[in-house]
Amino acid sequence: MIAMQFRTRAFKGVAYLLVLGAAVSASGYAASLPQQKYATVMKSPRDVARGQQLFQACAVCHGPSGAGSGDGLVPAIAAQHFQVLVRQLIDYRYSKRWDPRMESVARGHMLPDAAAIAAVASYVSQLPRQPVIGVGDGEFTAHGHRVYERMCASCHGVDGQGNASTTVPRIAGQHYAYLLRQLHDAVDNRRPNFSPEHVRLLKGFQYAEFTGVADYVARLGAQ
Ligand code: HEC
Ligand code: HEC
Repeated sequence: MIAMQFRTRAFKGVAYLLVLGAAVSASGYAASLPQQKYATVMKSPRDVARGQQLFQACAVCHGPSGAGSGDGLVPAIAAQHFQVLVRQLIDYRYSKRWDPRMESVARGHMLPDAAAIAAVASYVSQLPRQPVIGVGDGEFTAHGHRVYERMCASCHGVDGQGNASTTVPRIAGQHYAYLLRQLHDAVDNRRPNFSPEHVRLLKGFQYAEFTGVADYVARLGAQ
């Protein structure tokens, strides 16, 4: 009898949650979940020592110095802004950015809680910048320079340093092939965390703009 009552109550509870779930997702709750998680991570302690431990698992792909690979398969993450690193890890976790490897990193046991994200991001953000190891063939670099100053520098900075407070990534010295892939992913809607404005900005790009701007930005890191 008691068990029966419990089941009925539990069932009502589930039904209530389902109704609530439908109501909140219709009002955009789902979209704000990553933002809530981001706020929680921002309030967490930034335990660099724990971050160094957690980073062992990241180093398997990103390298012990966080340099990634020059062929562009794995991005450089050393010295990226703390806020940007946190945002990306959360976005992979909540399907605002797609990559099977990073989705499993962000969802799995490697980063079990908000404090783990804060810890690893604080460790990675204070790693020194690494030398440039992947650039393009130079054919459209001068053109890319002009495009960059006109269309990109206002947010990413003339020197490509990004902006921590507005979570604009540092892109200077990032690998050419990786940059090129992100730009194509953005215009082909394979990277949902790119804002519609950002995607629009890249829509008119042809081969010379894509390769030129990626090559210019990759070389920025050498200065
Ligand atoms: C199995 C290999 C692998 C492991 C392990 C891994 N990463 Fe990654 N990571 C990648 C790849 C590949 C990408 C690029 C994915 C894409 O194109 O979106 C990436 C992308 C990222 C990015 C986005 C970089 C940018 O410029 O936007 C961050 C941040 C990141 N990883 C952090 C981490 C952290 C922190 C860990 C450890 C907790 C980790 N990764 C573990 C392979 C890995
Ligand atoms: C209005 C501000 C703004 C402008 C202008 C802008 N960006 Fe961005 N860019 C951003 C923000 C914000 C992000 C981070 C998106 C995210 O992942 O949430 C970003 C992300 C990127 C990334 C991905 C970096 C990574 O580590 O994965 C690349 C590459 C990029 N922008 C290139 C460009 C280029 C090239 C231009 C000029 C044609 C440009 N951006 C103009 C704000 C801007």
